[in-house]
Amino acid sequence: MFQDKVVVVTGAASGIGRRTAGEFARQAAKVVVADIDGTSGADFVAELKNDGHEALFVRTDVTVEADCERLVAAAVETFGRVDVLVNNAGIEISTPVHEMTEGEWDRLVDTNLKSMFLCSKYALREMIGASSGAIVNVCSVSGLVAWPGIAAYNATKGGVMMLTKSLAVDYAKYNIRANCVCPSIIDTPMTDTSIGHDAAVKEQKAKLNPIGRLGTPEDVANAILFLASDKSSFVTGAALTVDGGYTAV
Ligand SMILES: NC(=O)c1ccc[n+]([C@@H]2O[C@H](COP(=O)([O-])OP(=O)(O)OC[C@H]3O[C@@H](n4cnc5c(N)ncnc54)[C@H](O)[C@@H]3O)[C@@H](O)[C@H]2O)c1
Repeated sequence: MFQDKVVVVTGAASGIGRRTAGEFARQAAKVVVADIDGTSGADFVAELKNDGHEALFVRTDVTVEADCERLVAAAVETFGRVDVLVNNAGIEISTPVHEMTEGEWDRLVDTNLKSMFLCSKYALREMIGASSGAIVNVCSVSGLVAWPGIAAYNATKGGVMMLTKSLAVDYAKYNIRANCVCPSIIDTPMTDTSIGHDAAVKEQKAKLNPIGRLGTPEDVANAILFLASDKSSFVTGAALTVDGGYTAV
C-alpha cells in the first residue's frame, strides 16, 4: 500500500512509533526513523535494513527547530521527498499542577505539542511543493476527556487535537490531509514507566476499556496506517479513537 512512499516517524525507537515505522516498512515504504535515543534508533534501523527494508535513522530532538529542519532535509536528500509525517514522539509527566515546575510544564509542551508544529512546518513545505501529503498526529483519549492526575499532559494533547484540525482546514487546498489517533492506555515502555510492570495494576487499567484489555502498539499502528493511506482520502481533521471503547462509556 505504501510502495515507494517516504514516511517520517518521530519517536520511532520505541513503543507505538517503532511498531508504526515497522508496519510502514513491511508495506514497502521508505522509512525515516527519528528519535532522541541514538542507540535504539540506530539499532532499529539496522534491523529494518537487515530485513531488506529501506530505512534511515536521523537522531532528532523534536523540541529543537534546527533538528526538525535537518530531519526533513535528510529525508528529502536520501529518499527525494516526504509523503507521510507521523508526529508520534511524546512524554508523560504526572506531577500535579500545584507541584509542577515551570521547567516540567515547558518540557511537556515542547515535546508533545511544539514538536508537532516544528516537524509539520518543514514537512509541509515539501508536501506543498508536491501538492500531496498526509500528517498523522499521535494524540490521546486525554485530548478528548481529562485523564485524572495528568493535567499538563492532557493540555498538550488538547493542543494536538486543535493543531490537527487546523492543519486539516488550512492545507486541504494543497491536497494535504491531517488527522490524529487517540489511544487509551497502550502497553508500551511509557506505560511501564507510568503504571509499572505489576500485572494486577495493568489488569485493573484494562478494565477501564469495555473491550477489557490494554491496547497494543500494533492496534495504534494499524489506525495510523489507515489515516496515512489513500483508503482514507476523504478523511481529514478526524480524531480516530483507538481506545477499546474507553471514551464511548
Ligand atoms: N502508551 C500509552 O498508553 C499512550 C496512550 C495515548 C497516547 N500515547 C502517545 O503515543 C506516543 C508514543 O508513546 P509510547 O507509549 O510509544 O512511548 P515510548 O516512551 O515507548 O516511546 C516514545 C519515544 O519518543 C522518543 N522521544 C521522547 N522525547 C523525544 C524528543 N524530544 N525527540 C525525539 N524523540 C523523543 C523516546 O526516545 C521514545 O523512543 C506519545 O505521543 C504518547 O503521548 C501513548
